[in-house]
Amino acid sequence: MPSRREAHFTLFLTPSGYHESAWLVQDDDPCEAISVESLHRAAATAERGKLDAVFFPDWPMLSHFRAEYFPQVRYDPITLMSALGAANRKIGWIASASTTYNEPFDLARRLATADFVTNGRAGWNVVTTYHAEAAKNFGRTHPAHGDRYARAAEFVEVTRRLWDSWEDDAIVGDRSRGRWADIDRIRPARFEGAHFSVEGALPVPRAPQGHPVLAQAGSSPAGIDLAGRIAELVFTPQSSPDAGLGFRQKLDAAARRYGRTADDIRILPGLAFVLGSTEEEAQRLRAELEESASPELRWKNLALNAGLDHQRIDPGKPLDPRLAEEAEKTTFAQHIISAALSSDRPFIDLAQEITGLPGGLEFTGTPEQLADLIEDWVLSGASDGFTLQPTTIPTALDAFVDHVVPILQRRELFRTEYSGTTLREHLGLAAVRV
Ligand SMILES: Cc1cc2nc3c(=O)[nH]c(=O)nc-3n(C[C@H](O)[C@H](O)[C@H](O)COP(=O)(O)O)c2cc1C
Repeated sequence: MPSRREAHFTLFLTPSGYHESAWLVQDDDPCEAISVESLHRAAATAERGKLDAVFFPDWPMLSHFRAEYFPQVRYDPITLMSALGAANRKIGWIASASTTYNEPFDLARRLATADFVTNGRAGWNVVTTYHAEAAKNFGRTHPAHGDRYARAAEFVEVTRRLWDSWEDDAIVGDRSRGRWADIDRIRPARFEGAHFSVEGALPVPRAPQGHPVLAQAGSSPAGIDLAGRIAELVFTPQSSPDAGLGFRQKLDAAARRYGRTADDIRILPGLAFVLGSTEEEAQRLRAELEESASPELRWKNLALNAGLDHQRIDPGKPLDPRLAEEAEKTTFAQHIISAALSSDRPFIDLAQEITGLPGGLEFTGTPEQLADLIEDWVLSGASDGFTLQPTTIPTALDAFVDHVVPILQRRELFRTEYSGTTLREHLGLAAVRV
């Protein structure tokens, strides 16, 4: 049973940082932030801070309009995890990959390979891809929300069977008998379902962790059901400890439907933050970011996150309720639509308020104040830590590692050294054996 007192952190790593104006307020070369070297430096900082893992989001598409305003680079997360993970020795890695736009056999092999490359520090964030635009890149029609989740559940089931196609002791390496593997312990996955038909065994032996760690990031009823079924780690937008506790209850109910409990799952809400040595300094840094933000980008982005085509919206007027009906069923979209329908403000004004992760937590203040917030959430059981979204990288990330981590360590809320070597061990999760 994991200690509820120890916080866990993943670093949500995007070039320049989480705030869309991050690249405008830092004075490095704008192309430097997208270099693999710069991502490597951020990961090294996270490892210096003893964070559990670096996390890469993923959408298999380019939001064309966004590229005008801020860095849009979606390197393949599994390739990045493998390359950067080989260069670091302790920190774990979590790559997002879509169950809507991948095939289980291919993904199971790539993730198992990454687990070997990182010596047991790989994880997979199971996402269903909520941006409908992605479908065009695959010559497909974007499936409806419920269908995406039905496919996701089956996808993970097949993937796990593929990882289990090699038992732990399948490789015997018996030179005297010329027997490399016990082939009775290599079993084809044999799966026939509504979405997938997979026959063979994986051409990669059992991964160091058995299964790479499974994370999940959807918070709709269907998303929570999937998390209860398969997730070991959950990313979610929650804005207060009460909301976090309510989410834990829902997740616990879902987990129990599958013979598990929320104690089997680490809950890490997204936390975007600006840090300053004084509150005034932090407010000034936040204001600098906000003043650099483009109102035009914000309303177009809000439309995108609601699953609506911005070309059909008049930003100078409140959202047309008929359009609202066409919005996506995702947590993000529902949050945006309910805010839009409960106000008569023009869409462009609404967009100045719902920034960052819709429904998520935004913090501006000192390291001491952030440590207090983290302590409050973790000790009350509202979360097991956070998915850190530094508004600027390296600035806010450095400040977290240099100033917040030592406070948490002094309060015995966070490790001072890694006690294990695998991502499962960092998160206090059991290895998966067959
Ligand atoms: C911290 C965080 C990170 C996320 N990262 C991704 C991502 O990389 N790719 C993605 O498609 N969705 C991502 N999501 C969104 C969810 O995975 C999910 O697809 C979306 O919210 C729709 O599912 P829902 O309706 O169940 O919430 C993220 C959500 C959160 C809270």
